[in-house]
Amino acid sequence: MSERVRVMLSEEEVDRRIQEIGEQISEDYAGKQVHLVCVLKGGSFFMCELAKRITIPVSLDFMSVSSYGSETKSSGVVRIVKDLDEPLKDKDVIVVEDIVDSGRTLSYLMDMLKDRGPKSLRLCTLLDKPDRRVVDVNVDYTGFQIPDEFVVGYGLDYDQKYRNLPYIGVVELD
Ligand code: IMP
Ligand code: MG
Repeated sequence: MSERVRVMLSEEEVDRRIQEIGEQISEDYAGKQVHLVCVLKGGSFFMCELAKRITIPVSLDFMSVSSYGSETKSSGVVRIVKDLDEPLKDKDVIVVEDIVDSGRTLSYLMDMLKDRGPKSLRLCTLLDKPDRRVVDVNVDYTGFQIPDEFVVGYGLDYDQKYRNLPYIGVVELD
């Protein structure tokens, strides 16, 4: 069986949308500094591209989480594999994620980060699959709403592969 990747969102479309979100964030936080929190590994490509397009001062931090449960179905209980280096107290924080699917991971994570006392806390995701939502999550910035298909690229993986694709695609087996 061979794998092929069908393009869902081209590199140009993704780049254009990230530019728009960068401009929006720069406008919304004018006069302030934003602290971007990247959820590894998936959010890393999106965060770098986004950060480059934000014109106000930016600081960055990274965390890595894994959800208990099977690989394909997240349980919602999140284990911190790598915690942030900096406290969030009094910062204007934007969590940057690759995708919101069931919403379990993000809902748990946002509650946990809120407890650390940021001045403000928002969520920015490149992709959103609303049809899959099980737990309500408030998403402040969304790149694209996509149908319920398993996507790869721009940080998203299938069995740790394809994260480096500069576009969003769907893996097809034939
Ligand atoms: P949630 O808790 O179900 O929202 O899980 C979100 C996480 O599942 C994401 O951060 C991804 O790591 C992974 N995920 C969900 N959908 C996809 C997909 O279509 N492709 C690759 N990873 C996905
Ligand atoms: Mg993720």
